[in-house]
Amino acid sequence: MAYTQDELKQQVAKAAIEYVKEGIIGVGTGSTANYFIEELAKVKHKIDGAVASSEATAERLRGHGIQVFDMNEIDTLDVYVDGADEITEHMHMLKGGGGALTREKIVAAVAKTFVCICDETKYVPVLGKFPLPVEVLPMARSQVARALVKLGGQPKLRDFTTDNGNVILDVHNLTIEDPIAVEAEINQIVGVVTNGLFAARPANVLLLATAEGVKTYK
Ligand code: 5RP
Repeated sequence: MAYTQDELKQQVAKAAIEYVKEGIIGVGTGSTANYFIEELAKVKHKIDGAVASSEATAERLRGHGIQVFDMNEIDTLDVYVDGADEITEHMHMLKGGGGALTREKIVAAVAKTFVCICDETKYVPVLGKFPLPVEVLPMARSQVARALVKLGGQPKLRDFTTDNGNVILDVHNLTIEDPIAVEAEINQIVGVVTNGLFAARPANVLLLATAEGVKTYK
């Protein structure tokens, strides 16, 4: 049976509820994460609340009556559930299509288990077809763009301000064969807050919605 991409996102969001046991849950940003919030609301009696990776997610969680905790109140999270723009068989992800990459990386850093929820269009052999988002301090925009051109990319300024008051450069035409190295290299550019490669801290579990059902990779 052929499902729409939205139906696949809904199915995988539902499957992720298996990883929600108790305590405080890390919640990502984007349309797949939004479907997850709807499912989380149905089991909110099991949890104490959530940590949000964006203001939009925080607002949506509160709208469902789920308490949102500040990251600074949290030492560790059992689970962080979020989508991705691309993911490989090595669990390396490219994220930040929704512009929340920095907060997503911060929440992911304290999570014991990162559960990535995706539809099958996101599963790729090599990262980089989706433009790589890089969050940059506004005053460093041009300088960082020049450095990204030297790395072989074509940065384009997104018409967007992040929750942290910064800008995003979307870098086109990168073929990212070694995501761990590229993640570190771009983060070394002065003025970069972070980039959308999640390779140093990959996903632990991938729930992938396919036409044949939700597949689990660990
Ligand atoms: C937001 C993200 C999202 O996880 C990513 O863009 C996927 O979004 P969607 O679930 O809407 O396809 O990284 O910053």
